[in-house]
Amino acid sequence: MTELWNTRWRAGLLIGVTMAAAALLGSLNASEPQAQMTEKFTNLKVLPKDISRDELEKTMHGFTEGLGVHCSYCHVRPQGQQRGEPDWASDAKPEKQTARVMMEMMKRIAGTELAKITTNHQDHVVFSCRTCHRGQARPWQIQDVLATAYRSGGFDSLTSRYEGIRKKYYGTDTYDLGEQMLPDLAETIIGEDSAAASLRFAEYNLKWFPQSGYTYLVIGHAHDALGDKDQAVKDLQHAAELDPKLQEYVQRSLERMKRK
Ligand code: HEC
Ligand code: HEC
Repeated sequence: MTELWNTRWRAGLLIGVTMAAAALLGSLNASEPQAQMTEKFTNLKVLPKDISRDELEKTMHGFTEGLGVHCSYCHVRPQGQQRGEPDWASDAKPEKQTARVMMEMMKRIAGTELAKITTNHQDHVVFSCRTCHRGQARPWQIQDVLATAYRSGGFDSLTSRYEGIRKKYYGTDTYDLGEQMLPDLAETIIGEDSAAASLRFAEYNLKWFPQSGYTYLVIGHAHDALGDKDQAVKDLQHAAELDPKLQEYVQRSLERMKRK
């Protein structure tokens, strides 16, 4: 069972919380490079008590990389100290206890629930902290973060939040920064009656995706809903020019609009 936390989930076995590339990344991030780990671990309640130093280290790097945090996110430093080696065995930080809950949860999911699935693939998806956390301590989706910003400070607050996230996370798997996210968001936040907001969100999206056919599609539908048919036709035609995959859909939309 020593392999439990850092090997792949194999058919018929319990999982592993896998950290394939994590060990490598973890050492690049090396938050506490001077930290030395002692050989004897005294307070393991979930991991096997006889785990090797290597395996433990790999597991811990999987945590830091999966959650985008440093060791000290879970491990308390001696009182009053900003630097220096944490007291690894201490349970003073609630985050460490939460991490144990997460480990138990994953054992249950992998051992009990995943074991029941009947699709029977030969290979198995690696199930790790990162599967949910994607490099953040609380695994928010960007839509939820932006909805909160919008509700508290309106559109300006949403765009400034979006730009902050984009700057920090572009090119990572942490947040969906694709072309469809913002155009679809108005309806998620506001609901059916969202044409004006859809227009605003989609026009703002052109700042980042000026060639996005999908965005012009949303703009066209919004113009149509707002009663500006001529503009709607132009937008839809432009959408189809930019993205040939949309041609059929645009054709049907235009016909529907003509009939109305
Ligand atoms: C997300 C929280 C979290 C992060 C981040 C984290 N750890 Fe841990 N660590 C734990 C938990 C939980 C345990 C106890 C596991 C158990 O009870 O089986 C633990 C145990 C340990 C232990 C064993 C202590 C003992 O004697 O019982 C060491 C050493 C350790 N971690 C080092 C590290 C290092 C080094 C890092 C940074 C690379 C790190 N940890 C990052 C949660 C974390
Ligand atoms: C099945 C999805 C899932 C997996 C897998 C998962 N987590 Fe979580 N975790 C969550 C969710 C959801 C929350 C947020 C709860 C909240 O704050 O509302 C969370 C919260 C946490 C927190 C608390 C963060 C805070 O600041 O409050 C820690 C620490 C944590 N997870 C550690 C881990 C570790 C370590 C692993 C791998 C052993 C892991 N999680 C695996 C879903 C997951």
